[in-house]
Amino acid sequence: MLSERIAGMLNEQIVKEMYSAYLYHDMANYYAHRGLKGFASWFSVQAREELEHAMKINGYLLDEGIRPSLGAIAAPEMEYPDDRAPLAAAYEHEKRVTASIDAIFKAADDEDDIRTKRFLGWFVDEQAEEERSSSDLISEYDLFGATGHGLYLLDSKLKERK
Ligand code: FEO
Repeated sequence: MLSERIAGMLNEQIVKEMYSAYLYHDMANYYAHRGLKGFASWFSVQAREELEHAMKINGYLLDEGIRPSLGAIAAPEMEYPDDRAPLAAAYEHEKRVTASIDAIFKAADDEDDIRTKRFLGWFVDEQAEEERSSSDLISEYDLFGATGHGLYLLDSKLKERK
């Protein structure tokens, strides 16, 4: 049985993952509006993955006999001055999500909650990958995105993400 503290943190994490989906959906809208369909598609795929993360935690709580209590999801309300800004914001966001997952892992460790630690192992690995992919995207944008031709090629490449 999970402690109230761990269950509460996991509940909050569901909201954070749902917010991530909302945020990335907003970024997808930004790029779609700009005509950059590859970037839009990349962020739409990312948004779907975030929903899956939320559902994974939701499922874990249910498996542990806890009814998830769903909190409010804030509006993203992000303004992007240029095409690089959402990429930088996404990377900063992923670092915050990593800190949040790490905090739950540490709390589970404090409580010798081995099952939750095992469950969170997947998220620890996933966060490493998400930070890396969002950081790589910034690097690619900085290398190729400054010219119209480079931006077009990068946008075409990003369409390939499924
Ligand atoms: Fe579910 Fe991108 O963290």
